[in-house]
Amino acid sequence: MKALVLSGGSGTRLRPFTYSMPKQLMPIANRPVLEHVLENIRELGVSEVAVVVGDREPEIAAVLGDGARLGLELTYIRQDRPLGLAHCVKIARQFLGDDDFVMYLGDSMLPQGVKQFAEEFAERRPTAQVVVHRVADPRSFGVAEVAPDGRVTRLVEKPEQPLSDLALTGVYFFTPAIHQAIDKISPSARGELEITDAVQWLVSYGATVRAGEYTGYWKDTGRAEDVLECNRELLGGVQRSVGGLVDGDSVLIGHVVVEPGARVVRSRIVGPAIVGAGSHVVDSRVGPYTSVGRDCRLRDTAVEDSIVLDGASVSQVPALRGSLIGRSAAVTSADTGSSHHRLVVGDHTHVEVAA
Ligand code: TTP
Repeated sequence: MKALVLSGGSGTRLRPFTYSMPKQLMPIANRPVLEHVLENIRELGVSEVAVVVGDREPEIAAVLGDGARLGLELTYIRQDRPLGLAHCVKIARQFLGDDDFVMYLGDSMLPQGVKQFAEEFAERRPTAQVVVHRVADPRSFGVAEVAPDGRVTRLVEKPEQPLSDLALTGVYFFTPAIHQAIDKISPSARGELEITDAVQWLVSYGATVRAGEYTGYWKDTGRAEDVLECNRELLGGVQRSVGGLVDGDSVLIGHVVVEPGARVVRSRIVGPAIVGAGSHVVDSRVGPYTSVGRDCRLRDTAVEDSIVLDGASVSQVPALRGSLIGRSAAVTSADTGSSHHRLVVGDHTHVEVAA
């Protein structure tokens, strides 16, 4: 089996971050989403992986390289425009050949892994198998209607009146029959070749399409709130490890990671929390549920339930919470005595200040 990871797209929901970085590199517990995805693929025993990329290819390739570090052989396939998930399969036709493959959205987090579904697919040999997750409100997802025996009877994209609460997670197992289905479908109203339409085509022509229910934690990390929530979830699983320097006036409580090269001075870190390599935390309080990337500077600051991306600095901010601070961004407080807020923020930025 091969793997196809979709890492193009426009990422409009994650602006302003996606003006300068692909959303699949957003760090969750200080590792890019894409690395979590590739780890799940390696667990399946798959080593040949194609990553579909858009114009952010150089950044993605700089992080993942040829995949050797992750125990994988990566091939990059360039998609000139985000013309849909099925379009990604189409342009990967030569790489995929006549092999079965797992298709995995590069922004979908399933920390409990998908091994059981790969095994089920190999044993039962359906034409296709989708991985679904029960959600409270299915209206914003692709939804699978499934018979009691696990066969998919219908797939609907963002139904207004859903007949099922089983959302498509973005992990699909395909036999080469999917290529024929993709050749038969036309672009949807939004101009994309939809994978849901291709799988529905298989269902309509009597092929066996099965659904496997993933019951662990699942998140499509498409929006800032999703990234923060997913970060909270994954930080919950970190183990204490202190590789950096922590001075005698600092306290670490609970599951705290201080990466090698980080420095913690006169500060209190409450786990779960991570302080990334090369970062300095001085006279501050960090955590719980906070990850600080690499080479950040935190001074006289308290930050909880947040992600601070690489190279960012925060100083003299007494209460940051639920925040996502972009790469090399600077957040500071005004001079003493000042009663106004001064903001220099980019397009599509979201700022909330205390009233
Ligand atoms: P989406 O999140 O559905 O699309 P998007 O990236 O354009 O995001 P937004 O809605 O915020 O604008 O895409 C799911 C995954 O598939 C994501 O990792 C990007 C990838 N993708 C491609 O690689 N090519 C495509 O043509 C599309 C539509 C998505």
